[in-house]
Amino acid sequence: MLDVDFVRSQFPAFSEQSLEGQAFFENAGGSYTSAQVIDRLTRFYRERKVQPYAPYRASELGGAEMDEARARLAALMGVETDEVSFGPSTTQNTYILAQAFRQWMDPGDAIIVTNQDHEANSGPWRRLAEDGIEIREWKIDPETGHLDPEKLMELLDDRVRLVCFPHCSNVVGEINPVAKITALAHAAGAFVCVDGVSYAPHGLPDVGGMGADIYLFSAYKTYGPHQGIMVIRRNIGTMLPNQGHYFNGDSLYKRFTPAGPDHAQVAASAGMVDYIEALAAHHGIMGETPVATGAAVHDLMRDHEEKLLQPLLDYAASKNSVRLIGPTDAAKRAPTVALVANAPGEALAAQLASHGVMAGGGDFYANRALEGMNVDTDHGVLRVSFVHYTSENEVQKLIAALDAVL
Ligand SMILES: Cc1ncc(COP(=O)(O)O)c(C=O)c1O
Repeated sequence: MLDVDFVRSQFPAFSEQSLEGQAFFENAGGSYTSAQVIDRLTRFYRERKVQPYAPYRASELGGAEMDEARARLAALMGVETDEVSFGPSTTQNTYILAQAFRQWMDPGDAIIVTNQDHEANSGPWRRLAEDGIEIREWKIDPETGHLDPEKLMELLDDRVRLVCFPHCSNVVGEINPVAKITALAHAAGAFVCVDGVSYAPHGLPDVGGMGADIYLFSAYKTYGPHQGIMVIRRNIGTMLPNQGHYFNGDSLYKRFTPAGPDHAQVAASAGMVDYIEALAAHHGIMGETPVATGAAVHDLMRDHEEKLLQPLLDYAASKNSVRLIGPTDAAKRAPTVALVANAPGEALAAQLASHGVMAGGGDFYANRALEGMNVDTDHGVLRVSFVHYTSENEVQKLIAALDAVL
């Protein structure tokens, strides 16, 4: 069982006076940062803030720490070190990837996108229509927001080069079967690009095991600094045209990051792995491989989240005046819960703030998903999202506050 007190001791936000009494339920927007990440970031700025990879001590240490971050994250996700790269954000990362596909594809080729995705994994691909690429939309169920793999089958044929979909939508919350969808796409000769932003905070996945060609997530929602992290598998990464400086084209991890990296933040991302390893050590987890350790920590987080989530879902489902988006079974979803109520989402979030609950309201850039479920994007949803560091008391406080404002 997850030791929540230990978990919370790893996050300075929980001992920060100015945040005392505030239950945090906007984690899908951005998580608190672990002490390990903050310590590394501070150390980098104090001791290593020079151009890395030069032959003097501070620079060598800085460069080595940046390499360490990629190597250890890659090992946890079951991929090679140079298959992991950093960019400023997931939105900018998909933008660059879309430019690479723009060059690689021919008019008449097709891409499948969903209307469940955040705009980051949708808009950049749809714009390829300007170059004669056919865009096919894999549509969600208008009632439930569910993405049915059977419907994907109807869209796949030998013209499809890429299928873009989320591991989990930031408003529907349902966990999509990545390995299954990837197998369907691969069988039709297409690659996949998976947006893992809403999933990764609930346990880093075994990307190698799932088979995804591209897997993206945002470190700032996963206890880390403000970076986007990309896994781009070697076969696709070497085949797509280089988007970086021409002389860097032989380095896989530099091919899709045209800008210079944020050295300190890349280095500090090693703290995300320190944190996961601290959780493993505290709970007596000794995986035979980093992937096994990562999987055990993932399960520990998920068990805790599911236990806390079910009463919240039961409460929301029992309210006649509220539409709960996505599954009512905690095992099927992330604890990212969007509610459509009589009052607009933002107004409700403001009311929750006066009850000591930090939540968000609006469209969360998931406009297409909300429209696909006939939710007025101006009215928006109230979204309450939590992660493994959330306590049972906080969820009870949230339910009481919801009861007061809904
Ligand atoms: C599911 C999902 N995908 C992508 C993004 C965009 O991530 P970034 O802010 O790193 O561009 C977000 C941000 O909210 C998101 O929730």
